[in-house]
Amino acid sequence: MPTSSPIRAARGVRDILPAERAAWAAVERAARQSARGFGYQEIEVPVIEPVELIERGVGGDTDIFRKEIYRLETHGDSEDEPGARLVLRPEATASVVRAYFQGGLNQGPQPVRLFTIGPMFRHDRPQFGRYRQFSQFDVEVVGDPSPACDVEVIEMTWGWLAALGLGSVSLELNSIGDDRCRPAYLRLLQDYYRPLRDRLHPDCQRRVDENPLRLFDCKEEQCQPFKAAAPRIIDHLCEPCATAFAEVKALLDAAGLEYRLNPYLVRGLDYYTRTVFEFQHGSLGGAQNALGGGGRYDGLAAALGYPDTPGVGFAGGIDRVALMVEQEAGEVPVPPAAVLVLPMEERLDAAAAQVGRLCRRAASAAVDYSRRSLRAKMRAADRSGARWAAIMNAEEAGRRVVQLRDLASGEQREVGWEDLPASLAGADGAGGPEASR
Ligand code: HAM
Repeated sequence: MPTSSPIRAARGVRDILPAERAAWAAVERAARQSARGFGYQEIEVPVIEPVELIERGVGGDTDIFRKEIYRLETHGDSEDEPGARLVLRPEATASVVRAYFQGGLNQGPQPVRLFTIGPMFRHDRPQFGRYRQFSQFDVEVVGDPSPACDVEVIEMTWGWLAALGLGSVSLELNSIGDDRCRPAYLRLLQDYYRPLRDRLHPDCQRRVDENPLRLFDCKEEQCQPFKAAAPRIIDHLCEPCATAFAEVKALLDAAGLEYRLNPYLVRGLDYYTRTVFEFQHGSLGGAQNALGGGGRYDGLAAALGYPDTPGVGFAGGIDRVALMVEQEAGEVPVPPAAVLVLPMEERLDAAAAQVGRLCRRAASAAVDYSRRSLRAKMRAADRSGARWAAIMNAEEAGRRVVQLRDLASGEQREVGWEDLPASLAGADGAGGPEASR
């Protein structure tokens, strides 16, 4: 008897069950293919990072750092460096740039093209498409200031989303300048917003002085009317930033990639300089409509205490992209195995295991060891989506043969155990391990 209520997952995190995992697998497979197609190499970075990496990388005044970071409680710090404060990473860019220096990748040929796929953590209000643990496909080009790299990242990302057959995706583009032009622009923005301060949401009242660019991130209804007349950064770029932005646009045009200029796109992370962009999807509602976003971060390396090094990158939300793939393509059915081995008697378990082993030389195979009737086993096999059933009674096991039944056509024939691999060749085309990898 259970003594208390059954334990459920924490709020905002979820299980990706096999039916949904198939779409995830397709999204991840396409991500790896797109990245490798452009010469990006896979890297793994830790899920746990020092808090300073996020504070100085993402920025101490971002919502991500102020409200959404998960801090770890550790068991004393005797083994840790004194005062080590750790967090679950909310994103991967700062980690990848740290790893680029720490691993000596800055010593080799430049730029270095990297990608990683993995979970990120943000204590955000959960809703459709927004979770507290979510997965990102993150790509970074470190060590090259060319606008051509910005466009390369965008083109690769378009390729990824196109390979998944996603329609109604659009690209929004902006430049947010750099250390030379942004400070003067921010003063203009403050001059515009200060007289309006009393009419702003409390968070925005604080932002006017502390981080005015974040005023554009605000989703509060009461702050929206003031955005339209606010000065726009693209009208105040310095000459080098304006030239770089013109080149990004020219290269996007040359590549035939469509975009929409959005002067209010500033992104929620502090490390960006110059180009910023976001991919939106029509059916993702409201604030969660970004399938992914990125931009250039030429000041990030220095903010982390490393030599000044340019970089540009992008991260796509696997959860959101998979949701859209499912919505547009329907559920991707993946049978657990192409062949189901159905022994008709209990004492045939060892023989059935051996048949399973032989089948696996050519296709994925699972054995139904349950004690239910053959009829029940056949019904389950039909429902599973498997392509074949290999049925066997004691007499057949003695002769080392099975009845191999095509579950779609109902055709059945006797096949010797040793001939199974040849008879099943190609069966995984209908599903099986390859389809879900
Ligand atoms: P980001 O815009 O914060 O950028 O996140 C990128 C994508 O991750 C979002 O567009 C969204 O699809 C997904 N995402 C973010 N938060 C959640 C959530 N709570 N639930 C589900 N999906 C979410 C970055 O993280 C930057 N590091 C991107 C980058 C790479 N910039 C340069 N290099």
